[in-house]
Amino acid sequence: EVETPLPETHFSFDGIFGTWDKAELQRGFQVYNEVCAACHSLKLLSFRNLEQIGFSEEEVKAIAEQYTVFNGPNAFGEVEEVTAKPSDRIRGKGVYETAPDLSLMSKARAGGAEYVNALMIGYHEAPADEEPAPGTYYNIYFPGKQIAMPQPLFGDDVSYADGTETTVEQLSKDVSAFLAWAAEPHMEARKRMGVKVLLFLIVFTGMLYAVKRKIWADLH
Ligand code: HEM
Repeated sequence: EVETPLPETHFSFDGIFGTWDKAELQRGFQVYNEVCAACHSLKLLSFRNLEQIGFSEEEVKAIAEQYTVFNGPNAFGEVEEVTAKPSDRIRGKGVYETAPDLSLMSKARAGGAEYVNALMIGYHEAPADEEPAPGTYYNIYFPGKQIAMPQPLFGDDVSYADGTETTVEQLSKDVSAFLAWAAEPHMEARKRMGVKVLLFLIVFTGMLYAVKRKIWADLH
């Protein structure tokens, strides 16, 4: 079966000089928090990691308080559910066992953020001869086109404090950017190092060439 090519999406973090857009990452977290977290966890992140995308300590505390974590079992085998702290992992809000953890999803799938973005906007009416099986939904970008995730975004699912429009395309792009950051929070440092290495190699090559010319000068 031929897979549908992903729609081209431009992200601020594309290319070797690409960087995060923190306002976008914060909006993307808001989408995760208000929509995706109902079903998906983000267990490789702690709430306090959100300070890296510009949330204040106070904001992080308030976010953590919307979640719970499980303590225990203690010596009697008891487990208690308590309000989350900034140091806790993001367990999600729901109990939707089959929804995969999203921490590395953006890295795990070919296409990365472009794929996640496409998946959000890829729900369509199924053609008559491709009715999805019970419990699945027709999505042109999901391999096999039958996904167990119901369409999560419809537009206006959240309301943004910075006045950014809340079309399904915008929400989808923001949450895809946020999940790209979640999967690779050190991307900017990696790219900076890469650029430095290339510059070093260019200068070094020039020096080697100059030294070679000098050493072998007598033989010309
Ligand atoms: C799978 C993202 C909301 C239930 C996935 C996948 C992604 C994703 C990237 C993996 C697809 C793949 O395997 O290639 C999101 C985002 C959401 C969101 C960004 C919020 C905007 C939800 C909600 C539910 C849900 C609200 C539950 C009602 C699932 C399930 C799967 C899944 C059950 C497994 C699908 C399958 O393997 O067939 N989601 N999701 N998701 N999601 Fe979501």
